[in-house]
Amino acid sequence: MLAGFGAAQAQAHMGLVGGRPARIAERAAALTASLSAMDAAGANGAFVTILTTDAASREAVVRTHAGEERAVLNAGSMDYLGLSQHPAVVAAVTDAVSEHGSCLTNSRALCGSGGVHRELEAELAGYFGKEAALLMPAGWLACAAPLKGLAKPCDVIFIDAHAHDSLAAGAKLSGARVVRFRTGDAAHLESLLKTHRAGAADALIVTEYVFSVDGRVMDVASFRRLADEHGCLLVVDVAHGLGTVSTLLDDVRAADLVVGTFSKTLVSQGGFVVASRPLINYLSAYGFVFTASLATPSAAAALAALRVLRDEPWRVAALERNVAAARARLRARGCRVAERGGPLLHVVAGDGGDGTAMAAWRAVFEGGLYVHPVLFPMAARGSGGLRVTLGAGMDAAALDTLVDVVAAAAVAVATPGQAPEGGAATLTAAH
Ligand SMILES: Cc1ncc(COP(=O)(O)O)c(C=O)c1O
Repeated sequence: MLAGFGAAQAQAHMGLVGGRPARIAERAAALTASLSAMDAAGANGAFVTILTTDAASREAVVRTHAGEERAVLNAGSMDYLGLSQHPAVVAAVTDAVSEHGSCLTNSRALCGSGGVHRELEAELAGYFGKEAALLMPAGWLACAAPLKGLAKPCDVIFIDAHAHDSLAAGAKLSGARVVRFRTGDAAHLESLLKTHRAGAADALIVTEYVFSVDGRVMDVASFRRLADEHGCLLVVDVAHGLGTVSTLLDDVRAADLVVGTFSKTLVSQGGFVVASRPLINYLSAYGFVFTASLATPSAAAALAALRVLRDEPWRVAALERNVAAARARLRARGCRVAERGGPLLHVVAGDGGDGTAMAAWRAVFEGGLYVHPVLFPMAARGSGGLRVTLGAGMDAAALDTLVDVVAAAAVAVATPGQAPEGGAATLTAAH
């Protein structure tokens, strides 16, 4: 039943029903039917409602799509440093609303910028050691807009084949030629540069810093060397790297443009681009005018969180300790998880099939842990599993629970009939 969900999802993604192109309403109906089946199996881990949560400890109460409520350890939040309830962040949001109201409405080009927007831009530019910054009302836009706005049809964009949807969409919208290299593979990129760089007016190399699929940290220095050798601008998306990996600033200083989101460590909404002043000016004119300004409280939250991040580096060190321990301990328990990386772990469940991933998700939920199920097309075929996020404030007991429950589920689903600890036997065997 759950494997069937994976197939239905993949077909809906391609516009198919039963292997044939179908009208949108039919695709939606087919997907809805498979979602209902998944709800009935209690295995729909997507779109949960978080009823209460403690940002630091990650203790939470959630309600699933099917209406079950449960106290869990939230290993699905991307509030990596636990700042969303930090007193400075909460006070900044409250003050911003009472002093400036909810928003400035519409585009900054037409309706102006708030002081908090200017301050946040200045502090972001300073944090990354760049001349200027530009805020965007969504992280997705902050990644898409520079590619769409800077690159033109006379250019070529070399992009990680599994880069986030926002980067891929921006590249496509630019009209530039798009060439995809294997994730993190500088040798592959080099061979593509030799073939495709010549003839284009300009070129961009686009990568994530902490890869959003499995948390691997990219070797930005090798991309910089290739960018210099082949006359390219280097764009690095730090969505999952900002405030999570202590080498970030040293590594991404080499990028021409750094893009990122406020929706993770900076516990807000919106995103940013930092770069040289001329590039930010060019981008302000092409890619920024036709969207509203970031809401004032969102800018205030991101600014307060950035200051905490900058002034309290021990938080990142605590997170890195938890990440290293979780990766090592999961590997020691037989889990397929990368040895090193950021706070976002992709644990392949059993044989990596979509049905197996959903069964593992259910087993983990039964064990008192909330994580994300990751299926095709979010993961490659055969690599389905669990996305587990770590927090700086998770204590030793939380880490023990996380390792025990995830390892039991991810390994046991590989062996039909073998029950993971936490009482999920019926689900692993039956679905
Ligand atoms: C690598 C990466 N880039 C960009 C984004 C977009 O950010 P947002 O969700 O804040 O719009 C995300 C968010 O999931 C991401 O993971």
